[in-house]
Amino acid sequence: MKILAIETSCDETAVVVLNANGDMHGATFDILGNALNSQIDIHREYGGVFPALAKREHAKNLVPLLADALLEAGLLTPGVTAFPEDVRALLEREQELATALASLFSRIAMPEIDAIAVTHGPGLEPALWVGVNLARVLATVWEKPLIGVNHMEGHLISALAELTEKKMHIAETPLPLLGLLISGGHTELVCMEEWLSYSLIGETRDDAVGEAFDKVARMMDLPYPGGPEVSNLAERARERVSTSSLSFPRPMLHDPHCDFSFSGLKTAVLYHIKKTGVLREIDKEDIAKAFEDSVTEVLWKKTARALGETGAKTLVLGGGVSANVHIKRVFTKLLLEEFPQVTLRLPQVLLTTDNALMIGMAGYFRARAGDSSDPATLTAKGNLS
Ligand code: KG4
Ligand code: ZN
Repeated sequence: MKILAIETSCDETAVVVLNANGDMHGATFDILGNALNSQIDIHREYGGVFPALAKREHAKNLVPLLADALLEAGLLTPGVTAFPEDVRALLEREQELATALASLFSRIAMPEIDAIAVTHGPGLEPALWVGVNLARVLATVWEKPLIGVNHMEGHLISALAELTEKKMHIAETPLPLLGLLISGGHTELVCMEEWLSYSLIGETRDDAVGEAFDKVARMMDLPYPGGPEVSNLAERARERVSTSSLSFPRPMLHDPHCDFSFSGLKTAVLYHIKKTGVLREIDKEDIAKAFEDSVTEVLWKKTARALGETGAKTLVLGGGVSANVHIKRVFTKLLLEEFPQVTLRLPQVLLTTDNALMIGMAGYFRARAGDSSDPATLTAKGNLS
């Protein structure tokens, strides 16, 4: 099955074309076309993702990226694609996108695609709408099945994939699977008892982990996104001979549930920074390390509790924060010591940040399971659970 996938939930605009084969017992995805534009440099000025700006950038870049992905896939053939007025009406609120698409349709024939997958939540709603509206139009004009994909399922599935240059492979995964999903907007533990069927085991009661990393970074005047910055500083502190005894609280560590809380930790960091006054580089390194140690211990303890509760055979880390080297190191070590029977799956670095490869893979499994969305009614859902 040739699947076109679109991702616009946050600050990455991405389109891919995959040739997908297999099922949950083993699936292969040839990457035929892969086009991505990151807006990070644009949002950095604002210290975070600015939704209206993200939407505008998606609207500007999405059709050119679609053309790039199709071209790379060898699916861009000269011709004309009809673009009736009633379908165009779906893009009523995306004038720039409508104009660009009309121009593309006037030059290309319908590509040989079997299905279209698009992130429809969770994420920034204005940003999500851009991808959803384009996907609705393509599905209508090309008369192909449309699949609305949950961004978090994309993160989870992509952590199972082994990526080589132009191919991804997902081997059969022992279930139940426990997923720790840690991103800028989410912190949750989900259990997959059966393939693609989830129950929520725990979640944050306030800030997401990535959000806490970004806020702590801002307190220390570090650029957005703050996660990698804090992580680099913390690593420097760990490489030093002399270590500081600075330590921050571990919220809800011993509470008898699998929920998280990070806002108290963030406040503790803020008070410490205020008390310290002017921060030297070494102070920043110590703060970053103490913060990261606290986050990591809480994440591990709650995950260990959830592993015990669910009897999971596979543990998967997904989402932007799963790129964190310290978290990966600690999880690898402690899992081996405490749960040697559990297999750990970490996403490859290229698959940790937002991308459309993960949406294509999740969309393929959803399509195989018979899921489809109606192009007339598919909506963007910022807080999709
Ligand atoms: O999944 P993602 O790319 O976007 C969302 O869906 O939110 O995650 C982005 C988040 C940001 O908060 C970013 O600071 C964080 O992931 N992040 C990291 C690291 N790399 C990215 N946090 C900690 N350590 C990292 N190395
Ligand atoms: Zn994400």
